[in-house]
This record gives sequence, structure tokens and C-alpha cells, in this order.
Amino acid sequence: MRCLRVWDIQTVMMKDIDKVKRSLGRRLLAWYRRNQRSLPWRKTDDPYRIWISEIMLQQTQVDTVIPYYHRFLKTFPTVALLACAPLQNVLKAWENLGYYSRAKNIHAAARMVVEKFGGRIPDNLEVIQTLPGVGQYTAGAILSIAYGQALPAVDGNVCRILCRLFAVRQPVDNAQMQKQLQKLAASLIPVKHPGDFNQALMDLGATICKTKNPGCSRCPVACHCQARLHDLQNILPITRKAPAIPHRQAAAAVIHNSKGMLLVVQRPASGLLASLWKLPGGFIQEGENVENSLRHSVKEELGISIWPGKHLASVNHTYTHFRITLQAYECRLLKGTPKPLGCQNWHWVSPSDLKKLPLSKIDRMLLVHHNNFFKDRLHVWK
Ligand code: ADE
Repeated sequence: MRCLRVWDIQTVMMKDIDKVKRSLGRRLLAWYRRNQRSLPWRKTDDPYRIWISEIMLQQTQVDTVIPYYHRFLKTFPTVALLACAPLQNVLKAWENLGYYSRAKNIHAAARMVVEKFGGRIPDNLEVIQTLPGVGQYTAGAILSIAYGQALPAVDGNVCRILCRLFAVRQPVDNAQMQKQLQKLAASLIPVKHPGDFNQALMDLGATICKTKNPGCSRCPVACHCQARLHDLQNILPITRKAPAIPHRQAAAAVIHNSKGMLLVVQRPASGLLASLWKLPGGFIQEGENVENSLRHSVKEELGISIWPGKHLASVNHTYTHFRITLQAYECRLLKGTPKPLGCQNWHWVSPSDLKKLPLSKIDRMLLVHHNNFFKDRLHVWK
């Protein structure tokens, strides 16, 4: 088979795919039966559990997801219980898993499943994609795994495998190529065991056909791999270089009242880390003085005047689109009573209250860092 260019994927699908399809399916399924990773969502055929796993696995590694998956399903064993739970409890169960819009979507989708679909996860491709958080990939994964439908699930791993198998030498990080790869994947899906086939590709991508140093000698479909034939496996897939992500600075205020309680605020209902709790404060503009910036952001957020004192801690974190350094300062409340001006809500909390609130990872890191100080402070104030 020739190396493919963008305009001839379609042609190759017609002529050559049929030849490799059966052998590819047979080899992958046989390999999967012997080598599949033992994962908790593979021990169930409950569409609710499979849906939860697929949402958790969006942008998140399998090993990270496993404990969350167990805990979440212990807390919300059915879609009905999830639908009637307060959003704050769902966010708490999601705490530190990241991409918190997924938790909000799962909660909204559970309500839709109960109200519109009689408590059953939809088994139709168009209908399931009306659930918040369910796009083409997740729909294909759920429908193939939970309902045995012959649909593809093309994520970054599968894209890499296809580019290598068919030696696709065009950049693939564009909508046109993604559409072509989706079609290519659809043409390869076997009618029998499509869910296993998709999961075999996922496992192959995670364990053998890795981005760097692919283990071609162990690959069950190496005999079909055009990249290997042309020694392109370390070059494909071709993507344009991602631009460097910006590094942003932020400051947070550690403010205690006379009872030693800590002031925390709830983020707005939409935007970054929506509805999670945090320390007061915000981003620092380029060239702005940290203490001034902190005074202004707390005034805008809560309508109170503060005086930043000792620098307490500094933590770094990376989000999808930027890196952040967050600096915490011990601050004195000079004037005013907090009002929710730039936040949803605010509270004075004790350490045990704080444990119950859903916080983002960076705020939790800061407070863990700061925990001893916080305890000492309580002791002093009491
Ligand atoms: N990533 C997304 N879905 C997955 C699944 N079902 N098994 C392993 N990794 C996955």
C-alpha cells in the first residue's frame, strides 16, 4: 500500500481497507483478549457506569481515574441518585480530578436522563450527543462498549495508530483530517465486539503504539503498519507545533477573623473552575505590584479593604491554556463586611468546614502548604 496523503484517504478506504480490515480486527481482538488492562469499568455492562468512566477518562489518565471512579459510584450508585444530589456534592466527589465542567455536565446530563429518557442512558448516536459533555468520541465509546454498536471512538491515541498504520503524512491537527480519520476508523470497526475493538485500540495506544519509542516488536498489527515499513513510526503523526502556553501570576489572601476562621469565596457559576471554592484574590496584571493587585482584587470580589502582610507560600500549577504561580499573603481585614460582588458566595470556615468544600487543586495545595500555620493560628486565636 502507498503512503497516504490527505486527498487519497478516501480512495484507500475503498480499495485497500477491506483487505486489511478483517485481519486487523481478528489480530486486535485476539491480542486484547490476552492483554487487556484490567480496568473497573470493563467489569460491568451498566451504561451508567460506562458513561461515568468515559467522562472521567476525557483528558485524564486511566491510573488517575480509577480511585475517582470507585468513589464516585459509591457516592452516586445510580443515575437517579446523581440527578437529585446537590451540585456541590458532585463537585466535591470530583475534587482534584480537574476539568470541572465535566462534573457540572455530568450532573446536568443525569437530570436530563431522568427527566427526558426515563432514567436510561440513550442508545442512539444523535440523542446521546444531546447530553452535556458527550461529543462524538464519547458517544462512540459509550455506544460501542455499553450497547455493542459498530461506531468508532477516535481520540488522540487512535488517531496516532491510524496515522501510523496507514502512513498518513499530512498534519492531522485540523478539522478536515480529523473528519477523514473518523471515516477511516468507521470503516475499520467490526460488527462483532466493536466495544472490545475500540478498547483494544485504546490499550494498543497506551501500551505499545506510544508517542515516543513505540514497541513495534510487540505490536499485534505490525505486519499491517505502513509507518513501520517506511521507518516513519517515530515521525508520525505530524502535528503543527503547539504554541508555548503563557505563564500567569496570581495572588491570594489568607484572612482570619477574630475566631480564627478563614475567609473563602465561591467562584462564579461559569468560567474557569466554576462554582469551586478558593481563597480571595485574583490574577496580577503584567508589571502590577503584587500587594496592590491583591488589595484591588479582594475589594472587587468582596467589597472589603485588606492589608497584605507576610508572604506565606507560593505554588505552581499548569492548566490546559496557561501556567500559574499563585502567591499567598497573610492579610489583615481593615474595613467592611464581605459581600458577594465578584463571587457567588463567601464563608468564614474552620479547618473541618474547609475539608467539606470543593476546592481546586491549586487552592488545596496552598492550604495544605499552609495547614500548619492555619492550625497554629487557630490555637492563638482561641
Ligand atoms: N480511555 C477512554 N476510554 C477508555 C476505556 N474504556 N478504557 C481505557 N482507556 C480509555
